[in-house]
Amino acid sequence: MEIPLLLRQAIDQALEGVALGDLRRAAATLSERYRGEKLDGALHLSDDLAARAYLATRLPATYAAIRAAMTELAERRPDFSAHSLLDIGAGPGTVLWAAADCWPGLATARLIEASSAIRKWGEILARDSTVAEIVWQAGDIAEGVGEAGRPDLVSLAYVLSELPAAARGRLVDDLWVLTGDTLLIVEPGTPRGWERILSARTRLIAQGAHILAPCPHAAPCPVAAPDWCHFARRVARSRLHRLAKDADVPWEDEKFIYLAASRRPGLAAEARILAPPRVGKGRIDLKLCCADGTLQDRTLSKRDGATFKTARRRDWGEIL
Ligand SMILES: C[S@@+](CC[C@H](N)C(=O)[O-])C[C@H]1O[C@@H](n2cnc3c(N)ncnc32)[C@H](O)[C@@H]1O
Repeated sequence: MEIPLLLRQAIDQALEGVALGDLRRAAATLSERYRGEKLDGALHLSDDLAARAYLATRLPATYAAIRAAMTELAERRPDFSAHSLLDIGAGPGTVLWAAADCWPGLATARLIEASSAIRKWGEILARDSTVAEIVWQAGDIAEGVGEAGRPDLVSLAYVLSELPAAARGRLVDDLWVLTGDTLLIVEPGTPRGWERILSARTRLIAQGAHILAPCPHAAPCPVAAPDWCHFARRVARSRLHRLAKDADVPWEDEKFIYLAASRRPGLAAEARILAPPRVGKGRIDLKLCCADGTLQDRTLSKRDGATFKTARRRDWGEIL
């Protein structure tokens, strides 16, 4: 998956003049902090170099994950179009770009972000956005979100891990109250990211939310540790991205997990594919999360006719 051309160009401009050695060091520190889920009171994106390292090495991946989650959400709710957005922990405005791409009618956005370093770049990038009214707001969401109207779409992407555990549940509850239609939460596709999504899922179902995706049911999650539910998107690496990470391969696989919860039900789905399908001669093996709340390994062959043909076109993360 590629980020929109206008965003790509704006990022290239933002990275002009950064010394490669500095970018490499900042990218390594950032990656270490994210991997360790460090909570030491400091923001990961606390200065300009860390913010620009995020643009080069993380934004393409978080964009791909968020955009993929939006595609699945939109498939379950073809009647939904986001006209207004509230994005929490907006960083450089990744959700804003993905939402405008998914729902071109997006007209207003309010983005809350604590780090002035990344907010500055978000505001600069957003000058090229098609969204007419964009308000950036400084604020620490661990202390509450405040009044925000009832935007159609409320989002929280790659943020829960940066908050103290005690603040997460209340934030999810607060965001649900503010949600006009749909709340989208995205997390890294790690066991810990999945656990945070599971806990948000339990709270939201208890408050009457309809789960649009990825789960095709509202029963308890049938996936059990040490397994965990997650998906992946292949992301093209720019030249600078490769250099900043000292990487040879021109792509990386971003693993992610998400939850789309809505005030309105979506189209029913029979099952979602939870792992890369294994395709053999005349057969396909699928790991499925099914509408009845069970996990099933199913083998389809030519004898299954149309279902087999459909399954051959489907990928990990999609509905069967
Ligand atoms: C990993 S970045 C994700 C940025 C963007 N949502 C994305 O997906 O690319 C997490 C963002 O949340 C912000 N953040 C973390 N804690 C916050 C808080 N307490 N209040 C507001 N923003 C916060 C960070 O500064 C950072 O920009």
